[in-house]
Amino acid sequence: MTKKRVLSGVQPTGSLHLGNYLGAIRNWVAGQANYENYFCVVDLHAITVPHDPTVLAANTYTVAALYLACGIDPNHATIFVQSHVSAHAELTWLLNCITPLNWLEDMIQFKEKAVKQGENVAAGLLDYPVLMAADILLYDADLVPVGDDQKQHLELTRDIAARVNYLFARNQPPILKLPEPFIAKAGARVMSLTDGTKKMSKSDPSDMSRINLLDSADEIRKKIKRCKTDPIRGLVFDDPERPEANNLLGLYQVLTGQTKEAVAAECAEMGWGQFKPLLTDAVIATLEPIQQRYHEIMTDLTYLRGLLKAGRDQAATVANATLERVKLAFGYALL
Ligand code: TRP
Repeated sequence: MTKKRVLSGVQPTGSLHLGNYLGAIRNWVAGQANYENYFCVVDLHAITVPHDPTVLAANTYTVAALYLACGIDPNHATIFVQSHVSAHAELTWLLNCITPLNWLEDMIQFKEKAVKQGENVAAGLLDYPVLMAADILLYDADLVPVGDDQKQHLELTRDIAARVNYLFARNQPPILKLPEPFIAKAGARVMSLTDGTKKMSKSDPSDMSRINLLDSADEIRKKIKRCKTDPIRGLVFDDPERPEANNLLGLYQVLTGQTKEAVAAECAEMGWGQFKPLLTDAVIATLEPIQQRYHEIMTDLTYLRGLLKAGRDQAATVANATLERVKLAFGYALL
């Protein structure tokens, strides 16, 4: 039986944090042997908002190295950089020309980012989800692991694929495969350290709101010491009045691999002063081996560059075949 194909991408902007790891990357690692995986650093998406060219390449290497440091195994996964495979940009153009403008104007993330940015919103920001659709459709991905916030983009991807199939392959075998979303199991939704009702996010202006995978032990200690709590003694899950307690206990549970009941019992009588050092130790213990592997990879980029070249070649083989299929269906003169 052939394995199902998984594709996902991370932007090389901001720093990867504990929410990315516990909510996404850790699950990819756990399931990787069951799938044929493609993990992409989506650096073309990174320029849809104003960007700094002096850090783009470094951030791209950082994300690729973090994939590896978190346990993505090159034997099970093709790791590559989006801009290294030109088919992504090329398919985006073809898909642009069959995607109704109002589908893109309806995207919640576009509206939010456009408002945040104010003036001079780039055409590329509106087009962001079409590029994402190209990422996915080029690989005939079966499953796309994404967070809740990307579900609408995935539905759009399915709509675009269905439209291509309808326009150019009616009553024929489909040209593009419709992917399924693959939303992670509950329990790993990590919330902000400064507001227990908001998701931990790369784009939160306050760095105190998140624990980055590359934060030092001192930074982690400081962030947890100062994180938002409440004045109540005794720590409990699931009290709607205490989102921070629920988040921090949940985080502790996931990091220590205990059951909810065990954590609830352990912490029932605790105050924050007693709990925070335990949580801090658990975070540091989880991140230490990841950071160590990361620094090993980054001290000599020869290995990483080689891996990304092999990844590019493998990805391009698959992507170019799909691109040919689409061009043929669109009626292009192929030589
Ligand atoms: N838009 C995604 C995000 O911000 C990143 C992304 C780009 C992606 N292309 C993708 C995710 C393809 C999954 C598949 O999280």
